[in-house]
Amino acid sequence: MSDEPRPFELEGRVAVVTGGAGGIGRALAAMLAAEGCRLAVVDLDPARAEEAASALPGGARSHIGLGVDVGERAAVEAMVVETERRLGPIDVYCSNAGIATGPGLGDDGMWEAGWRVHAMAHVHAARSVLPGMSERGSGVFVVTASAAGLLMMMQSAAYTATKHASVAIAEWLAVNYGGSGVRFHCLCPQGVLTPMVTGGSPTAESELRASGHLLEPVAVAEAVLEAIRADRFMVLPHPEVQRYEQAKVADRDRWLGGMRRLLQRVTG
Ligand SMILES: NC(=O)c1ccc[n+]([C@@H]2O[C@H](COP(=O)([O-])OP(=O)(O)OC[C@H]3O[C@@H](n4cnc5c(N)ncnc54)[C@H](O)[C@@H]3O)[C@@H](O)[C@H]2O)c1
Repeated sequence: MSDEPRPFELEGRVAVVTGGAGGIGRALAAMLAAEGCRLAVVDLDPARAEEAASALPGGARSHIGLGVDVGERAAVEAMVVETERRLGPIDVYCSNAGIATGPGLGDDGMWEAGWRVHAMAHVHAARSVLPGMSERGSGVFVVTASAAGLLMMMQSAAYTATKHASVAIAEWLAVNYGGSGVRFHCLCPQGVLTPMVTGGSPTAESELRASGHLLEPVAVAEAVLEAIRADRFMVLPHPEVQRYEQAKVADRDRWLGGMRRLLQRVTG
């Protein structure tokens, strides 16, 4: 068998992006529209989803916006049916919606919210679209996890654990469905300049942009496009994450000690 990347032509495909009205999802939708896809932009608020769909090249003639809570199985199933009725079979699914789950060990509500959106949303989506993709022998399924799913978000136990679940689900799907012609990608960025990080404050946005520490969402979308073209599972818009993960796996005690020292420096 050849190790050459299998080509996947995005032109003319039907794509779903969840969390597509904001941040990284909006940039993914714009990238896919620019590549010639017709989009279903999915987000919690239907008006925001429709606005984001109309702002894409081709506008409301080519794309649709749908208000869906991706943590609800029946809502995801209905969204897939409606998208396929209006646009045709789904070729590309970006399971991208995510939430900040709060500091420390958090409360039960934060954990519940994290499991719904960072774990079960991917499962609901996989159950809804993978049978069709497998039958057609073609498709792209992207899970937006986080570098916190490979390493840690020191401020939040729930974000760390539920994003580890996102990575595990993406890997499990790639093993169990990868032989059917569907390809899988797992997006694991560190800091990206989006409302999740800025809290929607223009002042925070301009200060964070000036600090130069965060990637722009468009750079993350370009990294996903590059991974689709290269037929590569792991998408690391911050390449240093690979080195950090290798250091973790090589010596966990040493890695934990380094993380404790980093936490002390950060919290003073
Ligand atoms: N911004 C970062 O630094 C960063 C880093 C690593 C990973 N991520 C991940 O990237 C993804 C996108 O995050 P972002 O930074 O663009 O955040 P964002 O808050 O800008 O966008 C997330 C979008 O998801 C939507 N959403 C939330 N819960 C939903 C639900 N239940 N159903 C449907 N839509 C829902 C929100 O309304 C929002 O529009 C998330 O999975 C996030 O965890 C972000």
